[in-house]
Amino acid sequence: MDNQKNIFPIFDQIVGRKKKEQLLNQTAKVIWMTGLSGSGKSTIAIALEKELAQKGFLTQILDGDNIRTGINNNLGFSDADRTENIRRIAEVSRLFVNCGVITINCFVSPTNAIRNAAKEIIGAENFVEVFIDTPLEICEQRDVKGLYKKARAGEIKDFTGINAPFEVPENAAIIVKTANKTVEESVNTILKEILPLITKK
Ligand code: ADX
Repeated sequence: MDNQKNIFPIFDQIVGRKKKEQLLNQTAKVIWMTGLSGSGKSTIAIALEKELAQKGFLTQILDGDNIRTGINNNLGFSDADRTENIRRIAEVSRLFVNCGVITINCFVSPTNAIRNAAKEIIGAENFVEVFIDTPLEICEQRDVKGLYKKARAGEIKDFTGINAPFEVPENAAIIVKTANKTVEESVNTILKEILPLITKK
């Protein structure tokens, strides 16, 4: 790319990921949660982080609602903006992984193309896709933020699940069906799969 021709990255002089993972005694991964708004991604992430902290793992939650008030506060919900949102998050996640830190990502990330783009940036070997599979009816019933009501009233256009698509993940490593599950049960489903991956051998 033209705007990169006078840029000279210095990756080779920086203390490497292996050394940082040794310091932290963990293997870094990006736990990428995808699912509808209100599916429970953030709630599960917070509980998962607590569990992991207790077990001695260092994590960082990256969450759509937070990130969109900071680094991505200039982005909306068009396809192009969602793609850019996820591209930046994926780049940020890659920085954390290279620092040995496990990230727990909560993004609607509604299409296979968007999720695959994130995986590409982060590296398939670092990327664990988790589908928080909560039926639309339940998300809409909960409507914690009142956004479904607004979307149904036509006050929000391009709202995922109502008038913008959510594609069921094709490649999720973990599927958490949250209906009739407690938060603790959902967290345990993820923990069981994740612990062998993040525990230093
Ligand atoms: S993504 O599609 O680009 O991955 P992201 O996870 O960052 O979305 O943000 C989703 C959050 O933004 C939702 O949980 C909801 O609170 C809020 N939001 C506001 N407008 C929309 C919309 N049109 N579609 C989906 N989420 C929206």
